[in-house]
Amino acid sequence: MNTRVLTGITTSGTPHLGNYVGAIRPAIQASLEKNVDAFFFLADYHALIKCEDADRIARSRLEIAATWLASGLDPERVTFYRQSDVPEIPELCWMLTCVTAKGLMNRAHAYKASVDQNVAKSVEPDDGITMGLFSYPILMAADILMFNAHKVPVGRDQTQHLEMARDIAQRFNHLFGQGKDFFVLPEAVIAEDVATLPGLDGRKMSKSYNNTVPLFEGGARALKSAVAKIVTDSRGPGEPKDAEASHLYLIYKAFAQQSETAAFRQALATGMGWGEAKQNLCERIEQELGPMRDNYEDLMAHPNRIEDILQEGARKARAIATPFIHELRQAVGLRTLATQEKSGAAKQAKGGGKGARFVSFRDDAGQFRFRFLGLDGAELFSSVAFADPKLAGAAMRALQSGDLEVMLTLAGELDFTLTLDGAVVATGVTSVSSVQRAERVEALRASLRPTE
Ligand code: TRP
Repeated sequence: MNTRVLTGITTSGTPHLGNYVGAIRPAIQASLEKNVDAFFFLADYHALIKCEDADRIARSRLEIAATWLASGLDPERVTFYRQSDVPEIPELCWMLTCVTAKGLMNRAHAYKASVDQNVAKSVEPDDGITMGLFSYPILMAADILMFNAHKVPVGRDQTQHLEMARDIAQRFNHLFGQGKDFFVLPEAVIAEDVATLPGLDGRKMSKSYNNTVPLFEGGARALKSAVAKIVTDSRGPGEPKDAEASHLYLIYKAFAQQSETAAFRQALATGMGWGEAKQNLCERIEQELGPMRDNYEDLMAHPNRIEDILQEGARKARAIATPFIHELRQAVGLRTLATQEKSGAAKQAKGGGKGARFVSFRDDAGQFRFRFLGLDGAELFSSVAFADPKLAGAAMRALQSGDLEVMLTLAGELDFTLTLDGAVVATGVTSVSSVQRAERVEALRASLRPTE
């Protein structure tokens, strides 16, 4: 199985240069690695916790989606969706809330910081603190556990949240797993080698310091006028300057090749003026961002396109989330009353009957294949091609006599593979979208319940 890497972006602001260098660019690069299934989502439920300005939320979702797409995120390759388009996430959040100790949440840094501020102001400790803020880490755990992410790239300030997600996952596994682990324990990935950009005033570039350089918004002009405001020392042109001590140099370095950086440094040492340095910096940034900004503007002018992409992402995400939440509902006891008599279902499944069935056929190339059809006659999956009809028949019979429950779980996954004695006999359906497949698996499950 590929490594699942998942990260969420809170939609409460407009991306700036620091976000790009510190998060967006490295995350997109990492999503291109082999053997990785990357999940990126807009954490818009999280955004509601920090922001009550509805228009700001709406605008930020659009800007952030456009920014990630324009920066090279490939929605065909990754699963890119909005948290609020996957209702299984808040459902899981509730299940997790019910197993999370309040004491664990009392220890959350973000909550404690708010309490400390209140105490310092001599107001009620919980003044202005919502349950959303208090429970923030549980929603984040649900985001991660819903997709059983192995790795979660986050900033250092989020490590505690990852520890909490692991705690909560363990607790749930222990309470309901009956020996099986529903949830993978996720690991935080803290990038050590990505640059933290200084802002206009030299402190870390951050929305809360109001010292940011805009990424795409405002166009090349806004970039230029922000760069013009970056503080420098008072050395004039012709005076040697220490690159390491200059914010301009640190930003330049985050965009340039090593040789360019060395030349920039050398030029400063031999007296390049700050004005000229700023101009060089703008040109270098523009080289990377200019073409992306064109994409950004194009996307911002066509929000319907973004909407379509996100809807498709939600479909991909739900193809995983829907069958999984079904399993979790069973585990915690939210079952249909009928499923408790298992034997009836098993009998029906084995015999085929009106239920799911296998059908063998010859394809256009004269090869032998079989299909597994759901109740409605729709295909759940089809086998690989066999040259020898006997092998096809044997594989089919082996699956037929196999554990239908296992097969249904497999059929609910994206791009599943069924193997028999190590040989692949069937792979994910190409003719049916994963969502349709998830729905059919659901229908099939429902119909396998005994009727008495
Ligand atoms: N809390 C994260 C942040 O502020 C955003 C986030 C929400 C997230 N859910 C997540 C990150 C799940 C990683 C995984 O940066």
